[in-house]
Amino acid sequence: MIEVEGLTKRYGPTVAVSDVTFQVRKGEVLGFLGPNGAGKTTTMRVITGYLPPTAGTVRVAGFDVVEQPLEAKRRTGYLPELPPVYPDMTVDEYLAFAGRIKGVAGAELKKRMDAVSETCAVSDVRRRQIGKLSKGYRQRVGLAQALIHNPDVLVLDEPTAGLDPKQIIETRQLIKSLAGQHTVILSTHILPEVSKTCERVVVINGGKIAAVGTPEELTRRLQGFETVLVTVEGPEKEVKEKIERIEGVNLVERHEASDGRVTFEVHAAKDKDVRAEVARAVVESQWKLFELKTSGLSLEEIFLKLTTKDLGEEPAAT
Ligand SMILES: Nc1ncnc2c1ncn2[C@@H]1O[C@H](COP(=O)(O)OP(=O)(O)OP(=O)(O)O)[C@@H](O)[C@H]1O
Ligand SMILES: [Mg+2]
Repeated sequence: MIEVEGLTKRYGPTVAVSDVTFQVRKGEVLGFLGPNGAGKTTTMRVITGYLPPTAGTVRVAGFDVVEQPLEAKRRTGYLPELPPVYPDMTVDEYLAFAGRIKGVAGAELKKRMDAVSETCAVSDVRRRQIGKLSKGYRQRVGLAQALIHNPDVLVLDEPTAGLDPKQIIETRQLIKSLAGQHTVILSTHILPEVSKTCERVVVINGGKIAAVGTPEELTRRLQGFETVLVTVEGPEKEVKEKIERIEGVNLVERHEASDGRVTFEVHAAKDKDVRAEVARAVVESQWKLFELKTSGLSLEEIFLKLTTKDLGEEPAAT
């Protein structure tokens, strides 16, 4: 639905985005994750047709954003970093204004205004002035504006920035509810955002793609080995030795202990799931198994790994 190919954007001597290629599939929510200055907003401005690329192409729903800008824009809703809301307008006036700009009029406009107000939970403030709304409401009005012409594609630049925790949860739920019907790309430099809302992540750093994948894939790729946490009630030394003898297990470390239970961190070869064997070993010896789970790197750790230069591992496949 969105195809970005070899996209480069320079501002004078500054290379903001360099040879970026990725796709967003229909109905998918893709997270665009990167630190400040990574090139997220720049990429989004090119996708939405607000900035011409220096090199490369972007297609939205099959339409080239440079060659067929009207066709592409008709299918795109954009929530910029700073929502373009006019404080003196009422919500209704603003949505009508945004709708007309996008070629929605008459009875259809009324219908769409009702629909997006409902979807974005702003129905109760439609007659209020935007300037007097809370930040969370204003953000939802911004989303309603992006949806007014029922676009296939939604481009949301940091949609939860500056919101309080409750508003963040509400906005995430709203975005999730839009998936499927719409194809969504959202940018963020906040990690929980992508794991909570997105199926796939593109990590961008210094204008270049650092990695692409599901949060789970990124974890596996970076970790290099699988880690299993197992909590057992039993003789510590024997338990450790028995797990160490399991095929594929490289290392067993004592993680923590309390109330007579010990948790071990079991490192196994990459792509080797030793959980079943670990469980069998424990139960066979009639020790008590309390918990068994894989322990991935947190997204926080992945993000740091991907965006810290000296740790720059093999660049991930795109
Ligand atoms: N209009 C501009 N003129 C010159 N340089 C710019 C312009 N806009 C952005 N840049 C530069 O391009 C790079 C990428 O900026 P961009 O705004 O795309 O990053 P970002 O990932 O959106 O960052 P943030 O998380 O802070 O919003 C930065 O180095 C920035 O200074
Ligand atoms: Mg930005």
